[in-house]
Amino acid sequence: MNGRELYECAVAVSERAYAPYSNYLVGAAVRTRDGKVFEGVNVENAAYPLGVCAEKSALVKAVSEGYGPGSIEEIGITASPCGGCRQWLYEFRIPAVTFPNADGELVTRTSAELLPETWDLPG
Ligand code: THU
Repeated sequence: MNGRELYECAVAVSERAYAPYSNYLVGAAVRTRDGKVFEGVNVENAAYPLGVCAEKSALVKAVSEGYGPGSIEEIGITASPCGGCRQWLYEFRIPAVTFPNADGELVTRTSAELLPETWDLPG
């Protein structure tokens, strides 16, 4: 699956988002180096800050199946990733992140490009 296909997969899965508070349905689809695809959606909560973004829920699935930095190759998202998710994408050093930009154009960026002058844990 290429970036556009992952994005299309994310659009399809976004229907399963649980977003009764914002009504903003987000989907994400992660492809691993060995060709597995993990999908995620945003999952909100009545205690608002406890909600989880779609990117994070897809990454949690991949990690729980044994994938980590270096084994996650690409992600497609239905929205431009939020600041917190950019830090998550950077943690896994994802080389290709595909999402619609503010002009509605599908763009692909590296996780490092999305988080310039990134913070890293010292040491
Ligand atoms: N959301 C995501 O799932 N990913 C993002 O990168 C942007 C925001 C979700 C969180 C919340 O459920 C809803 O969109 C509105 O902010």
